[in-house]
Amino acid sequence: MSTSTSARARRDSGAPATAATTVTPATTPRRERVFSGIKPSGTPTLGNYLGAIRHWVAEQDIYDNIYCVVDLHAITVPQDPAELRANTRQLAALLLACGIDPERSALFIQSHMPEHSELAWILNCVTPTGWLNRMTQFKAKAGADREAASAGLYAYPVLMAADILAYQTDAVPVGDDQRQHVELTRDIANAFNYRFGATFVEPRALIREVGARIMSLDDPAKKMSKSESEGSYISLLDPPDAIRKKIARATTDSQRTIVFDESRPGIYNLLTIYELLSGQSREAIEAEFASKGYKEFKAALGELVVTALTPVQARYAEITENPGQLDALLARGAARVRPLAQATLRTAKARVGLI
Ligand code: AMP
Ligand code: TRP
Repeated sequence: MSTSTSARARRDSGAPATAATTVTPATTPRRERVFSGIKPSGTPTLGNYLGAIRHWVAEQDIYDNIYCVVDLHAITVPQDPAELRANTRQLAALLLACGIDPERSALFIQSHMPEHSELAWILNCVTPTGWLNRMTQFKAKAGADREAASAGLYAYPVLMAADILAYQTDAVPVGDDQRQHVELTRDIANAFNYRFGATFVEPRALIREVGARIMSLDDPAKKMSKSESEGSYISLLDPPDAIRKKIARATTDSQRTIVFDESRPGIYNLLTIYELLSGQSREAIEAEFASKGYKEFKAALGELVVTALTPVQARYAEITENPGQLDALLARGAARVRPLAQATLRTAKARVGLI
């Protein structure tokens, strides 16, 4: 759906869909802007870190960065209010602990910026339900009883589009599971631009080949997710012993060789984590474990993960000692980018005829 719809709309409109002069003065060449979000639906996992957060941190000097804790997305499925409140602040603190630098990146909480919801409503009204019916994540999350899923869960990708489009975002660094949602965002931007005139930049997904899909430790056919069972994921706040135990128990297979072979998903997943955290080449890793067994490999991987997460956990403890400072920082993050969202919303409202 994505390319054909976008391409057709662009051709027919004859207008460059990327013009957004209301927001970005044409005279100041700007860095590409990235926007990404993460749900506060539990403590983030090693999958979130390797698939997304790590890249956000590493590339802060390349882009103009906006990162958001998307609490409005979390409530598309039932949440305990007190837990949601705690998880939202915990996630913001963890992003800082992982290395998001508030000087270089704007970090804020989605619900503090009502412009997202307002823009989402307008976008809902230009999004055909047929497009939403094709979203695989909705089908997976709604489960067998689709009639019982909330309208919010169904419209979730449109809110995500609003998050992204509000800031005239060029690129969206995400894990592989979000590819379809970013494509839908492009389609929505294109449909709006075609009907009402150039308003939104059409963003592209930034997805890295390795690590974009870290798999569950106990079922390597599923992605690692904080909404699954405890033993299936490593949380960024797991104590060292829990990390070692979970890795020791991870599902592998009955073969013996330690090689990168995609047809052996359990060991392939563990090797991928090793590759990303060690920075070594696949050849070097295979050579290192050529005469060793799963037990030794898993012990080495456990140490690698513990070594990677220990400094994050130490910084997290420091940050949470001062909640007032965290609140102030999040308020500053929102204040910094609010004018962008307001300008986009104003343009969209004017185009539609609301103002
Ligand atoms: P979420 O926790 O679903 O809000 O996801 C936040 C970010 O982490 C998104 O960019 C996801 O694509 C990414 N992500 C989530 N789970 C994984 C995983 N198992 N492997 C790689 N990336 C992931
Ligand atoms: N839907 C994303 C996820 O589940 C989170 C998200 C919400 C997001 N808004 C976004 C990601 C905007 C990138 C850009 O992971």
